[in-house]
Amino acid sequence: MQKQENNLMEKIVSLCKRRGFVFPGSEIYGGLAGIYDYGPTGVELKRNLKEEWAREMFRRHESIFQIDSSILMQKRVWDASGHTAAGFTDPLQECKKCHHRFRSDHLAEVGTTKCPDCGGQLTEPKKFNLLVETHLGPVKDDSSLTYLRGETTQGIYVNYKNIKITARAELPFGIGQIGKAFRNEITPGHFTYRMREFEQMEQQYFVHPDQAEQYFDYWKKERMRWYLDLGMRKENLRFRPHAKDELAHYAKAAEDIEYHFPFGWHEMEGIHNRGDWDLSRHSEFSGENLSEIDEKTGKKFYPYIIETSAGADRLILAFLVDAYSEEKDRVILKLHPKLASYKAAVFPLLANKPQLVEMARKIYNDLKKDFTVDFDDRGNIGKRYYSQDEIGTPFCITVDFESLEKDDVTVRDRDTMKQERIKISDLKHRIDMVLFK
Ligand code: GAP
Repeated sequence: MQKQENNLMEKIVSLCKRRGFVFPGSEIYGGLAGIYDYGPTGVELKRNLKEEWAREMFRRHESIFQIDSSILMQKRVWDASGHTAAGFTDPLQECKKCHHRFRSDHLAEVGTTKCPDCGGQLTEPKKFNLLVETHLGPVKDDSSLTYLRGETTQGIYVNYKNIKITARAELPFGIGQIGKAFRNEITPGHFTYRMREFEQMEQQYFVHPDQAEQYFDYWKKERMRWYLDLGMRKENLRFRPHAKDELAHYAKAAEDIEYHFPFGWHEMEGIHNRGDWDLSRHSEFSGENLSEIDEKTGKKFYPYIIETSAGADRLILAFLVDAYSEEKDRVILKLHPKLASYKAAVFPLLANKPQLVEMARKIYNDLKKDFTVDFDDRGNIGKRYYSQDEIGTPFCITVDFESLEKDDVTVRDRDTMKQERIKISDLKHRIDMVLFK
C-alpha cells in the first residue's frame, strides 16, 4: 500500500515536470527545499483555481470585500498576532547523530521516536520561529528587522477599519485576499503540500460574538460545497475538528477540511473561529480602536472572526491527485473544465497540408479570444491526444479534409474519448456549456 502511494506521488511529480505544471525551484542549481516554480500549464491551472475561489467569495457571496495587502508589514504586527511569541513556534527535535531537525507533530504523524533519516536518537522538543526574517532599509540591525508575512490574514486585520469605512460595511461582513506567504518550515515536503513560499486564499468574516457559532457552521458547509462543485470526489474529503489541546493560540474552535492524499488524510483548508483575539490584540498594540458598539446593549465588543484559510498550492496538489487516472494506455487528468489549463486544443489532422493548418489556426485564433486554448501540429494525432489528456484538456478539436467542405470539425471528449462532428460556429457554445454547467 505504502509503495503504491509513493508511486502515485512520483507519477504526479513526474507528470507535473513533463507537462510544464510545476518545476523544482532553482533546479539548475540543485533545487531549493520547499520552493517550486509553476510552468505554463501550472500557471493557468493555479490562476483558474484562484479565480474560482475569488468568484465564490466576492461574487457569489454578498458583503465580502477584496484586499491586496503588502507582504512586508511592521514587526509590531507580528508581535500583536502572537507569531513572534510562543504561538507560531513549532516544537522541534534534532537528531543527535545527523543533526537534522524535525517538527515534533510531524514525527508524531508518522509515529516515530527515532530520526527518520538515520535512525539516530532525537533531542527533547525545542521551540523554533517559523517566520522568515528580513531587514528593511540599508542598515541591518534590530530596528530594521521585519518578516515576510507568515499568513495573508494579518494584512486584513490591519486594514479592518479602512475597509469598513470605505466599503460602508456593517457586521457581518468579510474581507478576503489571495497572496504569498512564507514560512521556515522545518520539514518541507510532499511536493507542493508543505512549502516555504506558498500562496494562500484567506477570508475573514467579521461577526457579532452571538453569531460566531452560526457562521462557523455556515462557512464549513460553504467551503465543503465549493470542493464538491469543482468535482472533487466526496470520498476523498472529510472534516476533522481540532482537539482542545491542538487549537492555535487564537482559536476558539477549528476544523480542517482534510483530503485523502496518497500519503494519508491531511489538512487542505482550515475553518477557524478566532474569537476576538485578533482585533483586540491589534487595538492594544496599535492604539487604534477596532471595537464596535452593540446597538441593543450599548456595550463595546470586538467582532469575532470566522476564518476560511486555504493554500492554493496545496489545493493544486489535491486537485491533481483527485483528477489523476490511468486507463489502458493513457493517463488522464480529469480536472473540472473550469480548472483545466486549456479548455480545448486545436489540431490540423496533417501538419503538411497548408489548407488544414490554415483552417485550424483560424479556429485557434478565434477561440483564444475567449478561452485558453492550445495548438498542436506535431507528431501523430494519437500522440497529440495523449499529451492533452495528461494536461487535462476537456476537448480536442481536429480539422480534417471534411472540415474544408462542411465547416465542421471533430470534437473529442477527454473523459469518454467519444468523437462528434460539430459546426465550427457552434464550438464556443459547446465549450461554454461545460464551463457554466
Ligand atoms: N491564517 C491561518 C493560517 O494560516 P494555517 O492552518 O497555518 O492557518 C492555512 O494555514 C492553510 O494554508 C493550510 O490549510 C494550507 O492549505 C496552507 N498552508 C499552510 N502552510 C503551508 C505550507 N507550508 N505549504 C503550503 N501550504 C500551506
